[in-house]
Amino acid sequence: MGPGPSDAHPKVLLAMATPLIGHLDPEFLRIMDEVKEMVRLTLQTKNELTFVVSAPGSAGMETCLVNLLEPGDEAVICVHGVFGNRMADIAGRCGANVIRVEAPWGKPIDPAALEEALSGRRPKLVAIVHAETSTGVLQPLERISEITHRAGALLVVDAVTSWCGAPVKVDEWEIDALYSGSQKCLSAPPGLSPVTFSPRAVKALDERKTKVQSWFLDLTQVRHYWSGSKRAYHHTAPVSSVLAMHEALRLVLEEGLENRFRRHRENHELLRAGLEPLGFEFIVEPQYRLPMLNAVKLPAGVDDAEYRKRLLDEFNIEVGGGLGDFAGKIWRIGLMGNSSSANHVNMLLDALRTMINK
Ligand SMILES: Cc1ncc(COP(=O)(O)O)c(C=O)c1O
Repeated sequence: MGPGPSDAHPKVLLAMATPLIGHLDPEFLRIMDEVKEMVRLTLQTKNELTFVVSAPGSAGMETCLVNLLEPGDEAVICVHGVFGNRMADIAGRCGANVIRVEAPWGKPIDPAALEEALSGRRPKLVAIVHAETSTGVLQPLERISEITHRAGALLVVDAVTSWCGAPVKVDEWEIDALYSGSQKCLSAPPGLSPVTFSPRAVKALDERKTKVQSWFLDLTQVRHYWSGSKRAYHHTAPVSSVLAMHEALRLVLEEGLENRFRRHRENHELLRAGLEPLGFEFIVEPQYRLPMLNAVKLPAGVDDAEYRKRLLDEFNIEVGGGLGDFAGKIWRIGLMGNSSSANHVNMLLDALRTMINK
């Protein structure tokens, strides 16, 4: 019950144990095509350029930024936690002039602050985290998208933690580039990052004046492995992980997106109803709370390290500690994908009641 990886379904683990086939085997290419289609369905997009980076979420982040930014471009990066900060760091390494729009940790980015930062500017892109795993904030994106496009910029979104646990509507929200990760609400093994680019983002990629500075993440090359009439070798894909992701996506669609989102909300509510009487306090206002990542302040007398160790040693339950300024002060309790169950919530609450003696 940490901030990911979540528990994988036994069928996903079995898929991972399938005998290996070649990364250009026609059967594997068919699986890749099905993965792309299921990623499109779960991200609610028709984007042609939708595929999976053979590396974790941070590589998806880097893929979006290195392919869209060229030295000297302006990039407006929204920072309301650890992962916005990481995006700002990467954008700077791409040679972009980075303008940061910040919100206090535990709060979403205020669209008015973005509007103010964009006034008089024509940045190449605005980047923002949809589900900030370090703070438990769900960032509403509709207004952010409207403001970004009015300024003529592309919208880049981090959906590592929200994907498959809360709605991510790429086309309806006019998101131009988005990346996620396999290990959170999809409940597949870590190490893969789905990425999608809108036609507007593909145009920006096609109109680059300079080469993408990363060879491995250069979409002008990788896309020929994931699509097109002549599929060509680019790198040796992690075949077993892709097979596991295929099965995890199939299970998501079998459950149904709406059912899955409801399950995440209901288990979050069950956890909240049990934690608050024990003295835990949610740090995020109710309308911005992530259902899959519950950030709570510890009650007086509950020592972070001691209680987390006891939970692990005595009850076999892992919860995440706070990052940055929140280290030692909060817990991050994950209810992601397969780990989002009433059974998990009740086991944690029983353990806490025993430890706190209530
Ligand atoms: C919001 C967010 N973005 C990016 C990442 C980076 O993903 P990874 O650790 O898979 O590289 C994480 C990981 O926890 C995350 O929570």
